[in-house]
Amino acid sequence: MIGQDRRCAADTSAVIHVDCASHVYPDGSVGLHEMCFSVRKGEVVVVCGANGSGKSTLIEHLNGTLVPADGRIEVHGQRVDDERRRELWRTVGVVFQDADTQLFAPTVLEDVAFGPVNLGLVPAEARREALAALEAVGAAELVEKIPAYMSGGQKRLAAIAGVLAMHPEVIAFDEPTSDLDPIHAGRIESLIRELRRQGTLALVLSTHDLDLAARIADRVCIVRAGSVIAEGTPREIFYDQALLTASGLVEPGIVRIWRALSPEGDGAPEPRPVTEEELITALRERAGGISNMYHSETQV
Ligand SMILES: Nc1ncnc2c1ncn2[C@@H]1O[C@H](COP(=O)(O)OP(=O)(O)OP(=O)(O)O)[C@@H](O)[C@H]1O
Ligand SMILES: [Mg+2]
Repeated sequence: MIGQDRRCAADTSAVIHVDCASHVYPDGSVGLHEMCFSVRKGEVVVVCGANGSGKSTLIEHLNGTLVPADGRIEVHGQRVDDERRRELWRTVGVVFQDADTQLFAPTVLEDVAFGPVNLGLVPAEARREALAALEAVGAAELVEKIPAYMSGGQKRLAAIAGVLAMHPEVIAFDEPTSDLDPIHAGRIESLIRELRRQGTLALVLSTHDLDLAARIADRVCIVRAGSVIAEGTPREIFYDQALLTASGLVEPGIVRIWRALSPEGDGAPEPRPVTEEELITALRERAGGISNMYHSETQV
């Protein structure tokens, strides 16, 4: 039987460990298949995969919205049973792919303050936390808005603020920037960087945006058919063309440019940049090398 007695390699340092978890939806669709996944304090793990590969299903297992039919979810090494599942929302905040499922209060302020109130804060403190979280995502002007009447991007920002206001140990973002304009997407990216710099949280992101993944991931997990089929640093993963093709993904723009500008037949020489800054530095160094070569040849 699937998952019976099967375990992933132990990960004692994980905040959350998805241990050989399988999930089949009522219509028979496979959401997870013997999934092994973990996230440690202070790291940003980005989950990449094609449509329908299981990213959202994985994220919905992290806060107990879904439970595995086989395998287990562990938080700080302890299995999440029904009792702990009810408490999981304090530890793991999830920003769902569909923000409509997340917002329900009459105004954004009440919505974002709902979590802090539930954590036991008095209304004035909860309001302060909510305002600070809205400020952090660049959506302070939305406080009095009615969530149902907001745009997709505004709903996303309010949902992110709602999770931030609760100060969980883990935040999982399902496609956090997919419907944001470049300014707000940049703001969320900066926020994620800042959270990583503080080093107190564990962050999980799912995205199709491999350029974003390359910029912020400490570790990239490639998901296909409900399983993690590869993981590594952005440099290891995004220069593996065969892996990306087999996973239904297209290499990041920076990788494509580096390949195109590299000598034919050389594939992808070191230093294999994955971010814009790295690409610019690598091209400058290469240009410097060529110009030094030219000068020494003309001086002979
Ligand atoms: N509620 C559901 N009922 C039945 N099948 C579902 C349900 N939700 C997801 N699935 C199926 O489970 C599989 C994984 O879906 P999931 O939503 O986790 O993928 P995803 O990687 O998040 O995709 P996307 O990039 O499109 O968001 C797919 O085959 C999908 O059709
Ligand atoms: Mg999804």
